[in-house]
Amino acid sequence: MAKEPVRVLVTGAAGQIGYALVPMIARGIMLGPDQPVILHMLDIPPAAEALNGVRMELIDAAFPLLKGVVATTDVVEACTGVNIAVMVGGFPRKEGMERKDVMSKNVSIYKSQASALENYAAANCKVLVVANPANTNALILKEFAPSIPEKNITCLTRLDHNRALGQISERLNVQVSDVKNVIIWGNHSSSQYPDVNHATVKTPAGEKPVRELVKDDAWLNGGFITTVQQRGAAIIKARKLSSALSAASSACDHIRDWVLGTPEGTWVSMGVYSDGSYNVPAGLIYSFPVTCSGGEWKIVQGLPIDELSRKKMDLTAEELSEEKALAYSCLS
Ligand code: NAD
Ligand code: LMR
Repeated sequence: MAKEPVRVLVTGAAGQIGYALVPMIARGIMLGPDQPVILHMLDIPPAAEALNGVRMELIDAAFPLLKGVVATTDVVEACTGVNIAVMVGGFPRKEGMERKDVMSKNVSIYKSQASALENYAAANCKVLVVANPANTNALILKEFAPSIPEKNITCLTRLDHNRALGQISERLNVQVSDVKNVIIWGNHSSSQYPDVNHATVKTPAGEKPVRELVKDDAWLNGGFITTVQQRGAAIIKARKLSSALSAASSACDHIRDWVLGTPEGTWVSMGVYSDGSYNVPAGLIYSFPVTCSGGEWKIVQGLPIDELSRKKMDLTAEELSEEKALAYSCLS
C-alpha cells in the first residue's frame, strides 16, 4: 500500500540552499524513494515572486513523489501540519561580516518562528536548523517553543562531518564511503572540533584506524582540523556565496539518518540539546556523535577523550555559552 505523504517545511526556500534542497526532497533523497512528500515552502514578501518561480519549476519537473506544494509568505500557513521542518531562512554571512551581524538578524527570526511551529506543526515534528548561527538559532527555537520536545530540535553539523570524511578520503585516496566515525564536537563555526580519534577506513584487510593509515599526527592535529573548521569561509571566498549544494545534501543526510536510522556500527554528528554527556554543559545545542534508530537519536557514550580533545571540546562549548548570552542580549 502507498505510504501517506509526509509534509516537509523548508524556510528560506527561495534562497540558494532552498533551491538545491527542494528538488532533493521531491526526488526522495531525504526520506526514501517510496515516501511521497508535500513540500511547504516559506520565504519573506520581497522573495515571493522568486518563491513562486521555484514552485513553478517543481511542477515542471513532474516529480512522481511530490504530492503537493504550498508556497507562501505566511508563517502560519507554512507551518501548519508539517512533520519535518528544515529551517534555512535567514541571512547568510558574507565576506568580512562579523558573527554578531548574523546573530542579531537571525535569532529574532527563530524566536518568532518558534511559536508558529509550536502551535501549528504536527505533533512530534522534527526540526533541523540550518541557518547560522545554527546551534544558537536552534537553542532559541527550543527555548521559545517549550512544548516541542527538546529531542526534536537539532542543528546541522553533518556538513562539517561530511567535510571531515571528504578530507580523509582525499588524503588517503580511498572512497569516501569507506571512511566512517569521524566526530564533529561543538559549534558549527570555526571553533568546532573535528575529531578522527575513533574514525576508521574499510580496507581489504578489515577496518583500520584513520591515525594508523594517515601516519601523520601533525596533520591530523593541525592542518586537517583547520581545513574543516575554515571550509565554510573558503567556500565563501571561492564562490562569493556560502555553500549550498553540500549544505542541502548534508541536510538530507541528517534527516534521512534521523528518520530511517544509522547503519550498524556507524555514527554521525548532529547538533542536539546537551544533557551533560562528556561533561559538555547542559543547556547548549552542541554537536555530538549520535546513532539513530526508530526515529530517535542517542549520543554515543563511553568514548575515551584525550587531553587535546578535551581542550578543544571545552573551547567550542565556551564559544556556545558566549553565543547564548549574546543571543539573549540581541533579543532583549
Ligand atoms: P540565501 O540568502 O540564499 O537564502 C536565505 C533565504 O531566507 C532568502 O530567500 C531570504 O529571503 C529568506 N529569509 C530571510 N528571512 C526569512 C524569514 N524570516 N523567514 C523565511 N525566510 C526568510 O542564503 P543561503 O545561502 O540559502 O543560506 C541560508 C542560511 O544557511 C544562512 O544562514 C547560512 O549561513 C546558513 N548555512 C548553514 C550551513 C550549515 O552547515 N549549518 C551551511 C551553509 C549555510
Ligand atoms: C558553511 O559552513 O558553509 C556555512 O555555515 C557558511 C559559513 O558562514 O561558514
